[in-house]
Parts: sequence; C-alpha cells; structure tokens
Amino acid sequence: MRRVRVPLGKRGYDILIGENLLPGLGAHCSRLRFGKRALVISDKTVARLYGSQVVNGLAEAGFEAAIHAIPAGEQAKSLENVQVCYERCAKHRLERNSFIVALGGGVVGDLAGFVAATYLRGINFVQAPTTLLAQVDSSVGGKVGVNLPAGKNLVGAFYQPKLVLCDIVTLKTMEEREYRSGLAEVIKYGIIYDAKLFGRLEKSMDRLMRREEGILSRVIERSCAIKGEVVRQDETEGGLRAILNFGHTIGHALEAISQYGKYLHGEAIAIGQMAAARLSQMRAGLSASDVRRIKTVFESAGLPTEVVLSGGETRDLLNAMKLDKKVSNGIIKFVLAEKIGKVKFGCEVPEKSVLAALTTAHGRHS
Ligand SMILES: NC(=O)c1ccc[n+]([C@@H]2O[C@H](COP(=O)([O-])OP(=O)(O)OC[C@H]3O[C@@H](n4cnc5c(N)ncnc54)[C@H](O)[C@@H]3O)[C@@H](O)[C@H]2O)c1
Ligand SMILES: [Zn+2]
Repeated sequence: MRRVRVPLGKRGYDILIGENLLPGLGAHCSRLRFGKRALVISDKTVARLYGSQVVNGLAEAGFEAAIHAIPAGEQAKSLENVQVCYERCAKHRLERNSFIVALGGGVVGDLAGFVAATYLRGINFVQAPTTLLAQVDSSVGGKVGVNLPAGKNLVGAFYQPKLVLCDIVTLKTMEEREYRSGLAEVIKYGIIYDAKLFGRLEKSMDRLMRREEGILSRVIERSCAIKGEVVRQDETEGGLRAILNFGHTIGHALEAISQYGKYLHGEAIAIGQMAAARLSQMRAGLSASDVRRIKTVFESAGLPTEVVLSGGETRDLLNAMKLDKKVSNGIIKFVLAEKIGKVKFGCEVPEKSVLAALTTAHGRHS
C-alpha cells in the first residue's frame, strides 16, 4: 500500500493507494476515532459492485452503517439529491462525530462531500473514489459541490476529507472510455509539474492501458502527491492552483457548447491541452518537439487531440470561454507550458492566438 500525505496542518489527511483496500475501510475509520454511525453515499452502479464490501467492512469494525445510492451520472449532482441525502442522514440519526463515506466517482464525491460539509454544519468525511478521475483528481483537494440548472458546480464549498482510500482494483470494472478520460488528467500532471512522470507515461502507456496494478499505483500516487502539493500551496484557489486548469479553459468551453453530451471531460481537456500546447509554442517558448511528444502521449492513451469547428461553433467556443467561472473582467487567462514539467499561469492571450491554436490542429489552411 502507498501513502500520500496532503499536508494541510490540522486539516491534513492521508491518501491510501493499493489493492483490495475497500473491505478494510472500516478498520481505517476506527483509527480515526469517528462516532459509531456512518452513511455511505454511492451511485446505483457502484453500490451494486462494491456497496456490500464497504458496508460489511464498516459493520465488522463496529460501525452502524447505512447506504444510500443516487442514480448514476452527472444529472444526479443536484440540490434535489442533496436534500434527499440530508433526509437519509436525519433518518439514520447521524451526529456531529458521525461520518459520511463517498463511494463512487467524482459525481458521488462532490455531492457527498457537500452533504458532509453542510449537514450539522459539517461532519466527518471519507472519500473512497472508484474512477481514475476521482482517484487522481476530484477526491483530492477539498472542492465539493453540486450543479444548478444555470451551470456546473455553481454551489459548493472547500471541505477536506479525513481520509481518501483509492482501491485500484475498482478501476478494472470501469468502462474503457471513462478510464481513458481519467488518463487525460494524469497526463496533465506530467505536463504541468513533472517531466519524469511524463517520461514514465511515454514509456509505460501500454501497461497503463492494460490497467496493470504496479504502474497504476505508482502513477496514481504521483498524481495525488502533485495535486496535494499544489493544494497545500494554494488551498482556496488564489493563485498556483490555477495550473491545475491547464487545457481546461478550452476544454470546459468545448463541453459547454456541446451541451455536455459529445465529449467526456477527459476527452474535452485532451483537446484543450493540445490547443494550450500550441498556444504555449506560440507564446511561451514550448519547443516543437515537446508539442509532438504531448500529442503522441494523448494519442497513445486513445484520446482525441483535435476538433474541427465551423465558424459559428468557433464563435460559440470563444464566448463560452468568456463565461468560465475563472474569467474576471472578460479577460481570459491561460496556463502555458514553457517546457514539459513547467508551466506559468495568468497569461493573457489575444483572441487571434487562441483561434490560431484551435485551427492549426487540422492543417494551416483554415
Ligand atoms: N471536486 C473536484 O475537485 C473535481 C475535479 C474534477 C472533476 N470533478 C467532478 O467529477 C465529476 C466526474 O467524475 P467521474 O468522471 O468520476 O464521473 P462519475 O462519477 O459520473 O462516474 C462515471 C461513471 O462510471 C461509473 N463508475 C464509477 N466507478 C465505477 C467502477 N469502479 N466500475 C464501473 N463503473 C463505475 C459511474 O456509475 C458513472 O456512470 C464531475 O461532476 C466533475 O465536476 C470534481
Ligand atoms: Zn479536469
């Protein structure tokens, strides 16, 4: 088992990464001296696969655990489901020292975390992420929340878990497309922070695609350590945390103009990161060979690197970028790479460069 400490002083916590950790979740919670009562929040797919392991493990460790499963999918990350979860918390008589376990992907983690942050003004929270994206990204860093009809993640809080338990065996049952999508975030960590990780991904992508445990646990450990380190330096998103958004300005806009239907998040940010790499070549000195290496890694992970847009769609994309939560006074700022492993943030980029980065993807004719 590997252990990464997220060093946030009194709010610091461990991320445990390894095989077959879920049945032992109860034992880990005993060490944290939580109260007796626990509510496991999951989704229907994950609850069917892993719910009983977790609930039984909690019972063996002496906890009184109930499970509540929301429907699977992004739609379920809603205030309506927060309300339903509050009612389950009340019915199961959770108290201030009780705890909530999020068992599932990022949807479950964000929703259950928001419930934990707000029920009784905050109760203990444990993350048991079961998707690659959740293990390397959403379960680390303490951002929790839900969507509104007006937009994604508009209601939320910063609320750190007490423990994150990444059981890599769960990744075996993920759908192929979802799994690849998670790899886009792993590749991002290499580009923004760690040339050595990037090199390892280049060398071992085939083993990673086969979901081999050895390489998976190393890569997840390194990804969590990087996110933890960035979050330590900037817990509430005042500065450095922006680097985690490499490729996301364009990626989010692409998700928005396709009504969140066409691309998975990882696919949209793979395209976004390629466009950001080209922008970096134009404006931050990223070498042509690094741009090629980045493209090759995304391709070897089976991720898209290009998008062909009509004139109208390009306009929509630029407008969507300006609506991004992180834009202030209408100025879009980009994270740009100087070389693989090193980025700078807050770079203002003229619209014509963004357009060029989007279009050079499919030949220089447009
Ligand atoms: N809080 C943050 O910092 C942060 C960061 C990134 C993303 N997010 C959020 O995360 C969400 C996306 O997370 P996600 O990609 O994990 O999606 P998800 O939670 O919807 O999971 C994807 C699908 O995989 C299924 N699934 C989950 N684990 C499985 C397993 N082990 N085997 C088989 N099927 C499994 C789920 O039922 C679901 O259908 C978004 O809502 C996004 O906003 C949050
Ligand atoms: Zn992302």
